[in-house]
Amino acid sequence: MKILVTGAAGFIGYHAVNALTEEGFQVIGLDNINAYYDVNLKYARLSDAGISKNDIKHGELISSTKTKNNLYRFIQLDIADRVALTDLFEKENFTHILHLAAQAGVRYSIENPYTYIDSNVVGFENLLEICRNFSIKHFVYASSSSVYGLNASIPYKETDMTESPASLYAATKKANELMAHVYSHLFSVPTTGIRFFTVYGPWGRPDMAPSLFMNAIMNEQPIRVFNHGNMQRDFTFIDDIVKGILKIIPSPPSNNIPYEIYNMGNSHPVELMDFIQIMENTTGKKALLSMEDMQPGDVRITYADTTHLEHDFDYKPFTSIETGIQKYYEWFVKLKKQQKFTTKYINEFDRITYLALCHQKNDGSESFRKRSEHHF
Ligand SMILES: NC(=O)c1ccc[n+]([C@@H]2O[C@H](COP(=O)([O-])OP(=O)(O)OC[C@H]3O[C@@H](n4cnc5c(N)ncnc54)[C@H](O)[C@@H]3O)[C@@H](O)[C@H]2O)c1
Repeated sequence: MKILVTGAAGFIGYHAVNALTEEGFQVIGLDNINAYYDVNLKYARLSDAGISKNDIKHGELISSTKTKNNLYRFIQLDIADRVALTDLFEKENFTHILHLAAQAGVRYSIENPYTYIDSNVVGFENLLEICRNFSIKHFVYASSSSVYGLNASIPYKETDMTESPASLYAATKKANELMAHVYSHLFSVPTTGIRFFTVYGPWGRPDMAPSLFMNAIMNEQPIRVFNHGNMQRDFTFIDDIVKGILKIIPSPPSNNIPYEIYNMGNSHPVELMDFIQIMENTTGKKALLSMEDMQPGDVRITYADTTHLEHDFDYKPFTSIETGIQKYYEWFVKLKKQQKFTTKYINEFDRITYLALCHQKNDGSESFRKRSEHHF
């Protein structure tokens, strides 16, 4: 098996590459290393996988210093560049694709819509054409719990309606599922979409709540608590996600139309305020809270029904939120000691928090309150 992992400098991609090479699979990682969040974190992940920033040249394959026999190589490329992508596939005999590259983030899509179309729609189509033209055995791609949008029935099942996305990001993920279906139906391309539910853990994305909250607590800065804490998220630990991905990759769908969609979530939605409490218990620090209204494009609850995944793979994510946060905290503390990229990583958290405060309509100071003063 020779696999292309797109989004290899990203959070899930970094972990997936590690797990795949540990299993002995030949992997090429691809990423455009965009600046949606601090690129130093992306370079640090690559460096941890044996890919040095100084060796990266756009469009050129380089080998990891941490694996033998070119088991892991990396290339900086944009999936919207279909000529370069085709060129790569003509040179390398890929059998599988794990497609994780995307413009992520619900809130960012309100300000930057075209980035989502370029990466998530054009880039996705390019990869489907590649699958068709190079007879790829299994195309596994990241979808998202956000496709459930305004769907009110919980827990979310794959058979629920997903016709009411609440953000452009969600709409592009839903579009991916529809596009994949066309290629499975017309050209028998085996495709599996995985709807991830709020993934967190070491090397996590700095724009997501677990990272933002942890950093704020550790630096005694306010946490923005949306919808005044009246939110629930089905937080899913990264190791569980990677285990699930590894089970799915070697097993393409065998239906008439080789097309599948799976929820991959913890199935234990956590109240936002409980989540903050767990972080406080883990860090031994009190959180400062900035209570805010619901963000446009957000949904109040995410909750995965994983029956379909369990039925087909005898697997479901299992790490408790307490265990996951503890592991994340340990990594975070270690990270702070690694001077190479810590400052910028931390600064990125601070920058987002700072910008958030600047954007508040009124003087935010009144809405900050110590956790101890707030009763839930
Ligand atoms: N993390 C989550 O909780 C979560 C939840 C649901 C779905 N997802 C999906 O899972 C996938 C991985 O998410 P992540 O959290 O690792 O995000 P991430 O942003 O850390 O990783 C995505 C990577 O893709 C790269 N990329 C973006 N556009 C590209 C392009 N045009 N060409 C090449 N590379 C490009 C980025 O540079 C980044 O390194 C994404 O598709 C995301 O939408 C993630």
